[in-house]
This record gives sequence, structure tokens and C-alpha cells, in this order.
Amino acid sequence: MNREDFPFLYNNIIYLDNGATTQKPLSVVKKIEEYYTDYTANAHRGDYKISLKVDTEYEMVRNLVKDFINAKDRSEIVFTSGATESLNYIATGFFSNILEPNDEILITKAEHASNVLPWFRLAKELDLKVNYIDLDTNYYVTVANVLKAITPNTRVISLAYVTNVIGDIRPIKEICKIAHERGIFVVVDGAQSVAHLKTDVQDLDCDFLVFSGHKMCGPTGIGVLYGKKELLENLEPINLGGGMNESFDSIEDVYLKPLPTRLEAGTPNIEGVIGLGEAIRYINKIGLDKIHEYEVELRKYFIDKLLTLSHIDIINLEADTGIISFNVEGIFSQDVAVYLDKYNICVRAGNHCAKILKDEVGVKNTCRISLYFYNTKEELDKVFELLKDKNKILKEMI
Ligand code: ALA
Repeated sequence: MNREDFPFLYNNIIYLDNGATTQKPLSVVKKIEEYYTDYTANAHRGDYKISLKVDTEYEMVRNLVKDFINAKDRSEIVFTSGATESLNYIATGFFSNILEPNDEILITKAEHASNVLPWFRLAKELDLKVNYIDLDTNYYVTVANVLKAITPNTRVISLAYVTNVIGDIRPIKEICKIAHERGIFVVVDGAQSVAHLKTDVQDLDCDFLVFSGHKMCGPTGIGVLYGKKELLENLEPINLGGGMNESFDSIEDVYLKPLPTRLEAGTPNIEGVIGLGEAIRYINKIGLDKIHEYEVELRKYFIDKLLTLSHIDIINLEADTGIISFNVEGIFSQDVAVYLDKYNICVRAGNHCAKILKDEVGVKNTCRISLYFYNTKEELDKVFELLKDKNKILKEMI
């Protein structure tokens, strides 16, 4: 659907790497161009009309994001460079101040590097433990396994809402409930979910949620850190500088601005924020329910076809999103990706930054197709035709 809005797709390219980044609709590109051609100025610093227009556009996006994830208050929305920076910010700016030796952080082996490495560092610095929730036979997180993994020392559970290789939707609402009953914080990595299914932070009751603009039709270099207001109040700004301070003097008295500004030091990524806003407007127009439903339908269509090929090993047979991870028997995943690229088909191959998932799945590398609303059954038919004959792949690889 909506293919006409994406000039990139006119190029006879089949783009199936939406988990890595999505294409940008013209409206987003135009909105960014408009900022550079019609009203370039800094934000929050000028008293002239153009600068005030930038302030309005920028802050309106905060309202849009607030509504998009149903946050309670606009001050709970902080702009960052992406999900990775947001997760690092949460670990370093919040949890480093409250965790104590022997406290435990729970993650899974299916997490992306950005939801593993900040916790490893914190654990090293503060003498904490990072433990793993067992995955079930489909590599899913179950509430029972979360309960099994919780100990009296568990202080944080940090999970992707949707994982980038398995594509499972985690029972975050239930996990938040059992976590909060035990005084445990829940951090949600929404990088692979917010563009694909409706996220309501109040309903989930998660403490933090992070996501990136570029995986949701927006520009790169922009992301969001959502946190409950009372928690963000205790998040130590990592960057200090212009824009975020109220005043300071020569005897080092420093007063910071209130949330969220005090967490956004320096000139912000104005084009990123403005572009993200337009992306949200665009997604809202289509509707996340429709997007999710369509992706699941496309996935089922393709999985049913793949299941007829005995040389294809589907890693995530079960998943409620548009992510399909597979291998062609006996052929290295990167070779399959390069073969498909000869036909202008973009898929991702490798470990997809989920480098400890191999402990669970038993395979290090996979080919990944990640769908979005602009993909079609016809595109998947073409991929199927190319995967159908293993000998053709082997022959053309050489
Ligand atoms: N995290 C992105 C992916 O899964 C880059 O491809």
C-alpha cells in the first residue's frame, strides 16, 4: 500500500530490509527540505519570527510523539539520536545512580547489541549481574520464564518489545505488572515495534521506552527516550551545555531547566525532529492496526510458500510481525543476500547485531526479510522464484 509515496520504490528495487531502516515518503523529505529552504534557524534561542517558527514546529513534534505512544505528559518525551543513545542514556544517566553491587539486570539472548552492551558496561562498573530469561522453543519470552528468572536481587528488566531476528511480540504489559509488584523497573526497546504496532506506554505501564525515527519512515539520527516523569526527574543529564541550563555563574552555581529541555543539551537535531513529526503524521494516516494486520498477512503468505521448499530452514516459523529469518541449506547467508542483490532485492544477512542469539538458535547467521506496509505479495513471489531452485543459487554464487 501507498507505494506511490516512495520514489525509491520506483527504481525496480525490492526493499525487504525494513528492520534495518525504512524508506522515506516524499512528505517527510519535503518537510525537511522546507526547513532548510524556508525557515532555517536554531531552536529555543531566537526572538525573531523564523526562530519562533522552528520552536513551534519542533515542540509540536513532541506533542505528536506524546500522543503516538500515549504518554501522560509532553515532558516525558526526550529527543535523542536514536534507540541506541536512549538506552545508553537510561543505563548511564539513571540506573548507574541507583543500582548497587549484586543487583541484577534481566535481558534475553535475543536482544540487540544496544540492549546488551550498555548493561554489560554498567555491570562491570558497579559489580552487577546481567542474567538471561530463558526463551521457549519458539524463542519467545513467556511470563512464566520471566517469573523463573526473577530473584530478590532483580532490579531491572530490559527487553525489546519486538526482537529484530525472531520478530516475536513480548508480553510487556504482563511483565510490567509482575515486575512492578516486585519493585523492578522495566525498560522497553521499541526500535522494531513502534512503527509496526500500536504502543501505549500508559497501558503497558513501562518505565522507559526507546525508539528510532529512521525505522519508522523518518530520518536517521533522531530517536526518542520516553520515561515516566518521576523517573526522568532523576535522570542525570549526560551532556551539559547550551539550551539545557537556566543559569550559571563564575562560582559554579548551575541551575538546569525543567524537563525535557534539561536532557537535550546543545543545538538539537532540528531537521530530524521535524522529519520524525512528519513520519508520525504519515503513519497515523495509514493506521498502525492496518499496518500490523497487513504485515502479518504478507508474512503468512510468504511463509506458506517457503514451507514448500525443503532446502529452506525457517528460523522463526512463529512470529506475529513481518520478520522472517531463514537459511538456504548449505549456503552461507551472506552469499544468499548477495545472490538476491543481483536481482535488486535487498535483504539483510548475518547476525543482525543480536550476537548471543546463536546460543539459543544454534546458528550464527541468517538471512532476514523484514516487511513494511509498502511491500507486496508480488515482490515476495519474485523472491520465492529466486529461492526455489537451490542449484541456481549455487551456480550464480560462484
Ligand atoms: N537494528 C537494525 C537491524 O536489525 C540495524 O537491522
